[in-house]
Amino acid sequence: MKRTKIVDIFNPELIGSDVCVKGWVRTRRGNKNVQFVALNDGSTIKNIQIVFDLTKFSEEELKPITTGASIHVDGKLVESQGKGQTAEIQAEKLEIYGTADPNEYPLQKKGHTLEFLREKAHLRPRTNTFSAVLRVRNALAFAIHKFFNEKGFVYLNTPLITSSDCEGAGAMFQVTTLNLNDLPKTEDGKVDYSKDFFGKPASLTVSGQLEGELGATALGAIYTFGPTFRAENSNTPRHLSEFWMIEPEMAFYDITDNMELAEEFIKYCISYALEHAKDDIEFLSNMYDKELIDRLKSVINTEFVRLTYTEGVKILEESGHKFEFPVFWGADLQSEHERFLVEEHFKKPVILTDYPKEIKAFYMKQNTDGKTVRAMDVLFPKIGEIIGGSEREESYEKLSKRIEELNIPMKDMWWYLDTRRFGTVPHSGFGLGFERLVLFVTGMTNIRDVIPFPRTPNNCEF
Ligand code: 4AD
Ligand code: MG
Repeated sequence: MKRTKIVDIFNPELIGSDVCVKGWVRTRRGNKNVQFVALNDGSTIKNIQIVFDLTKFSEEELKPITTGASIHVDGKLVESQGKGQTAEIQAEKLEIYGTADPNEYPLQKKGHTLEFLREKAHLRPRTNTFSAVLRVRNALAFAIHKFFNEKGFVYLNTPLITSSDCEGAGAMFQVTTLNLNDLPKTEDGKVDYSKDFFGKPASLTVSGQLEGELGATALGAIYTFGPTFRAENSNTPRHLSEFWMIEPEMAFYDITDNMELAEEFIKYCISYALEHAKDDIEFLSNMYDKELIDRLKSVINTEFVRLTYTEGVKILEESGHKFEFPVFWGADLQSEHERFLVEEHFKKPVILTDYPKEIKAFYMKQNTDGKTVRAMDVLFPKIGEIIGGSEREESYEKLSKRIEELNIPMKDMWWYLDTRRFGTVPHSGFGLGFERLVLFVTGMTNIRDVIPFPRTPNNCEF
């Protein structure tokens, strides 16, 4: 018999028919006459209840069906008597694929802490919480591709191994095949990278933007969606060493067009998840965050506030609120500042623009005041910065001057500067941190709980 996925089994038309299901046992309970097994196959948050009549099955046969075991059951789908479910299966035939020794299988009881489950990241997708999070993550990934595809953006794959530092933050992981215990040296005692795999120093990328700009100034509008690596030593609930980023880049967009796209994009993704991962979001809301669905809807239905960094700093300074980090014009805003603006002051998402040039990357378009650049960060409740972007400096002279000022090696940037030498155009783009979006939509509070296998300082297990 052909297998029916559990997500499809609650179809009323199937009542009365013979079905085949396969999955992992969540629980077994019952008495001498009848045993109930809750089975899940990962296709939905819902379990199907399987009823074993002990006149048809021996206790011995059912004994290996413990939490975590994998089984195949054929039987009749009937309306359920029990509350909380519409259908159940009266088992006719049982096949056990694999047992899970109750003394060894770590996911025994309900209500393991998220910290405990992080140490069992290889098995945690079998829990309700993580399977729900991973399905929401999947829905969001699909929404992202759908959104850009519908707008005619080209999906561009930018390299993961690179020899330039896009954000200029110096937080890069080096890539080398040199023997670290016996490094080749040049005459002046430095590492001789000409002997390394690429013949020069190479790293994992912190952003695909620079190559994205090459794409946008040829194809009109592109987006990237790929892994990004940052060796910042930030052990916070919102930072990963390896995270996924979506970076659209558009020719002929100014900062206002950029802000409009960012707002439309993020609302689209949240709406898509609410519609297509409804059961999972409801489950997560019930378990962890009763206000989740209201918060998601309120973001979709509200216009984001737009305000300059200078105005934002003024509000923070005049708030009388005591922040852990001092706030003054020129300071890089901390998550506490961003969240104050969003959660306390405006009570809605904020797009902050025109930051001091000193705290932003070299490629941002310089304003005529000589002090600020055309940056835009989208700030979200519970998250802080979810998107960072800008209009780009399209003037060859201004851009190369800024590169010099910041002592960025010009010879590494020749290909990037060529976009400004040949047919330069106004253009803009932004980067959305995928896990920060998943955090927001799932209502989880630690970024380690929204990626299957988190990488953070001192943590590279699995
Ligand atoms: O603000 P960031 O550093 O911007 C860029 O990388 C630009 N090149 C984007 C662009 O304009 N194309 O990073 C963009 C976003 C942040 O807003 C945040 O959501 C996320 O990436 N992000 C991180 N997410 C998880 N862990 C980290 N360590 C992150 N660092 C940034
Ligand atoms: Mg940023």
